[in-house]
Amino acid sequence: MKDFTNKVAVITGGASGVGRSLAFALGRRGAKIAVGDVDKTAMAHIAEELAAANIEAIVEHCDVTSVDSLNALADAATEKLGGLDLVFANAGIGAGETGAMWDYSEKDWQWCFNVNVWGVINSIRAFMPRLVAAGREAHFVVTGSGNGAYVILPDAPIYTASKATVHAITENLHYQVQAGGLPVKVSALFPGPHVVDTGLFNSGRVRPEALKKEVEGNESGINSVDDMKKMAAEYGIEIQTTHPDEVAEMAIRGLEQDAFWLLETTPETDAKIRARADMILNRTTPVPAMLG
Ligand SMILES: NC(=O)c1ccc[n+]([C@@H]2O[C@H](COP(=O)([O-])OP(=O)(O)OC[C@H]3O[C@@H](n4cnc5c(N)ncnc54)[C@H](O)[C@@H]3O)[C@@H](O)[C@H]2O)c1
Repeated sequence: MKDFTNKVAVITGGASGVGRSLAFALGRRGAKIAVGDVDKTAMAHIAEELAAANIEAIVEHCDVTSVDSLNALADAATEKLGGLDLVFANAGIGAGETGAMWDYSEKDWQWCFNVNVWGVINSIRAFMPRLVAAGREAHFVVTGSGNGAYVILPDAPIYTASKATVHAITENLHYQVQAGGLPVKVSALFPGPHVVDTGLFNSGRVRPEALKKEVEGNESGINSVDDMKKMAAEYGIEIQTTHPDEVAEMAIRGLEQDAFWLLETTPETDAKIRARADMILNRTTPVPAMLG
């Protein structure tokens, strides 16, 4: 897609972080924006900021764990903004787990899979039939994570497992639209190349009451990118970060080329991908990869 003028872009989890940056980057290019989110405070802020930037937008309460909620977002975007051209299945959370996975609360697994995995499945079920029926150029973009898609970092097993699933779903969706000769392009967005400075590490702010932890003792102690930097510094590791605006610009450059991989890597990331492929080919016993 080369021209975003008057295109309607729906962004789940669009009130903060990567989704918020996508909203502004696309809005500045003339797109109309439908943000769906559950964080009322962030929603109120972005609604004001989009209006101040003269970007035509709606900001709707939408919980991606419910397909009905996503259908309502799709209806609102169609009725109020006039169509659906780009869908970003972007909402995601980090469960903040730590320690042995057999001690995790079942509710940590449920919350993370409900949002990260079912959020994507529900988005596909709500939006894909509409994009297919419209029969015109459209993009369906899923925000995944390199952690799960091409490396398995050892620090957040629930998140990693959810994002491994998300990538399998995204790649399959891409194969299915290709096989069907459909005008919908599917892309996998990987925020990076470094840790992206967003609210992901403070996801507990939007954790539903019904899925609060049952078991104490599995808090990671990391509630922000700054916490992560401090903890890494104790081990002599310096963590670099990426601003979410850079991720949005990278994503748009890829969409302009109809690219599947919306992915920017560093030489270190490339080395990890190669090392992982070599490990499998050589049947080497896995050793934990480090964050970088
Ligand atoms: N930050 C990173 O380094 C990083 C790296 C790789 C992938 N990602 C992915 O990027 C995506 C965006 O996250 P972010 O980093 O911008 O974090 P963020 O917390 O700033 O943004 C996530 C948004 O999703 C919303 N959300 C949470 N639960 C929801 C639900 N049930 N329904 C609707 N919205 C919900 C939150 O309110 C928030 O606005 C996520 O899928 C995340 O896994 C982030």
